[in-house]
Amino acid sequence: MSVDRKKLGALLKWYIQEVGKDLIAVIVVNREGLVIDAITGGSDKSVDEEIVGGVSALVEPVLTRITKEFSSGAFGTGTFDTEDYRLIFCEAGPEAVFVTVLDAVAMVDPVFPYAYLTAEKIARIFDGRTVSPVIPKIITQSSGTIERKKGALQKIKVQSGEYAYKLILGGDGGVGKTSMVHRFVEDAFQTDYKSTIGTSIMKKECEFEGLSSKVRFVIWDLAGQSQFKRVRQTYVENAEAGIVVYDVTRKDTFDNIDIWHKEIKEASPTISLVLVGNKIDLVDDRNVTTEEGQALAQKLGLTYIETSAKDGTNIQDAFKMLALQMIKRFVVTEEV
Ligand code: GTP
Repeated sequence: MSVDRKKLGALLKWYIQEVGKDLIAVIVVNREGLVIDAITGGSDKSVDEEIVGGVSALVEPVLTRITKEFSSGAFGTGTFDTEDYRLIFCEAGPEAVFVTVLDAVAMVDPVFPYAYLTAEKIARIFDGRTVSPVIPKIITQSSGTIERKKGALQKIKVQSGEYAYKLILGGDGGVGKTSMVHRFVEDAFQTDYKSTIGTSIMKKECEFEGLSSKVRFVIWDLAGQSQFKRVRQTYVENAEAGIVVYDVTRKDTFDNIDIWHKEIKEASPTISLVLVGNKIDLVDDRNVTTEEGQALAQKLGLTYIETSAKDGTNIQDAFKMLALQMIKRFVVTEEV
């Protein structure tokens, strides 16, 4: 088995950067507990062998338990707290387990979305599938539902059951909403532009390697044109998840995001939203910078990601970001 080490290293570095100061180390181990890669956090960028060695020793007995008590691929995610650390274990496909080592005082909840996404990407690297090492900034409210329990292995579960979330898309006409949905649902792209009239509804499940639960979406694709505004209101109501999209080549679509955001929030105050800048394949025509997109997301308190429905860049991740926000609301722990 040949693993793309460079990509794995880049991904782990990105993860460390996003998780921030509470992160002490990340370790990728195989099922036998052998360290495949490890990086320590903090300002000292070099790998601190001592920390990795110490943490590996800590991880080993927990890993043994995970592999013993749960057949391969069925554990999902768990936490384990020691005197000095908080550990998160995420299955990363059949080959590897992704271990995050946090400071004892850290909150685990905000780290989960990043850990799932990274575990998913690690699994892809191990499979030799294509994967972007980029981890987008995920903005969610910290809930602190996972308590610190020293010496206990806690399994993380999502209490969403069979329920499917209503997902809507907002944004001006022609920004690529329908194309994103098609790319996500069917992995296809159509070039002939027919404006969406009325609504089409599609279903799709989002799965995570590091999590045994699935997130089901019922995607409502509404017409973007303003003449349908009254109809739109009805569709936005009761939506639990939404993607607001602008076209990075058209500044006006970016300027209108505020209006879309307001309209959606008014109709569905508790909705989880992600901001997407689409059409990044049109590099030469770009009129809105990444920094502008990030600044707007920050202002609105949203997660931001840039995509191309045309070549598929980050489309899966955009929906996954949203799935992670849904997951976060329904996390429960079970001591095992
Ligand atoms: P409405 O239904 O009018 O609200 O439009 P929409 O937001 O659903 O846009 P749609 O997906 O129909 O795409 C509009 C046009 O942009 C089509 O011609 C697409 O082929 C094109 N398009 C969509 N996404 C991308 C992208 O990522 N890159 C490029 N180059 N073109 C895109």
